Amino acid sequence: MSVHIPTTIVCAGGGGVGKTTTSAALALALARKGKTVLVVTVDPARRLAHAMGVEIDEKVQPAHVEPEVEGRLFALMPEPRRSTPTFAEILFEGRPDDLARVMKNPVYLTMADAAASMHEIVSLILIARAVEQQRFDYLVIDTAPSRNALDFVSYPGRLAVLFEGRAVSWLGGLARRVNDGEDVKDPGMFAGAQARIEALFARILSPRLLRDLAQLFADLALVKDRFAQLARTSESLLLGPRARYVLVTAPSGSAMADAIFLHKKLGRLDQRSVGVILNRSDESPPPWLEVLRKAAPGWPAIGTALEQVDLELKTRRRAGDRLSDGLKKGIGPVTQLRTPTIEAADPAVIVRGLATALTPYLDTLAGR
Ligand SMILES: Nc1ncnc2c1ncn2[C@@H]1O[C@H](COP(=O)(O)OP(=O)(O)OP(=O)(O)O)[C@@H](O)[C@H]1O
Ligand SMILES: [Mg+2]
Repeated sequence: MSVHIPTTIVCAGGGGVGKTTTSAALALALARKGKTVLVVTVDPARRLAHAMGVEIDEKVQPAHVEPEVEGRLFALMPEPRRSTPTFAEILFEGRPDDLARVMKNPVYLTMADAAASMHEIVSLILIARAVEQQRFDYLVIDTAPSRNALDFVSYPGRLAVLFEGRAVSWLGGLARRVNDGEDVKDPGMFAGAQARIEALFARILSPRLLRDLAQLFADLALVKDRFAQLARTSESLLLGPRARYVLVTAPSGSAMADAIFLHKKLGRLDQRSVGVILNRSDESPPPWLEVLRKAAPGWPAIGTALEQVDLELKTRRRAGDRLSDGLKKGIGPVTQLRTPTIEAADPAVIVRGLATALTPYLDTLAGR
């Protein structure tokens, strides 16, 4: 099957800096340019989902942010608590009996629930499936607020290797023998290292657990090609020639240190950031301030209020300048883009405002 690989923009940064909002804004700005865009939030923000008119769900949904982009802007915001069933549902699509068996397998349920990265893996598989089913020009991926957030880009390749390799088939074969009633405790039945490992499994696991584990691998062996294909698609999205990384930061807390850390991490993944967004750092005086200032002489109360606004803007601007200088020292000459604080309570209004602020920088952030 030939899959159109869109340009993927991954937004990463420290906690609370505005990654999710910026991702949505970037997606909206691209949709305003006539592109078909899917924005994916690995870490869904309920308020934003609501503001964009989408559900936290495993399905790709049309986003409703602005009438002009209807039909071009889509969102995928999977629910982290549903990862375990979703993973199985995707892999065993069209195989209801196998799916039912996996969803009853205690080893699957325990392993999937315990796997720390399960939600990221499920999100990547959902993305790969979305890209197989629908053509997008751009994919904007919002990541979790963690210094480990970028580790997920190497999961697909590692998982594909695992599933393409012999381990899953071999463990699946072990399952067949267990189910056929062969005694895996008898190393004489199998040759060499394989037999020793199987005998070791049999010694350390209860017969019940061994059966469940072996059954799980037998079931996974049925869908290993499907899984490997989805993993390869998400690998090409994240690490292929059209993958782009954008760091998001803001003048607060550890945001700068987080951005510098993630920049170095990208280097270790052989990727580099195309730009750093300094959110809430472009605090140029809004035009209405000047209008009010002209009216102020006849109205002293406004004069005092305006002085306070000026002071607040100056303080914010200085914080933005310090952030900018720190980043220059920490990561060198990476393009810096300063975006303003949008004074609004409605997250959809903030997304629309930020999209406008980002529009002049689309070539830097999204250019092919
Ligand atoms: N430029 C901005 N102007 C005004 N409000 C903003 C701006 N950027 C973000 N916000 C607001 O700040 C809050 C945090 O933003 P957001 O959820 O996008 O951050 P995040 O980095 O994704 O957070 P987390 O690390 O928790 O995932 C939200 O209420 C959002 O509406
Ligand atoms: Mg977020």
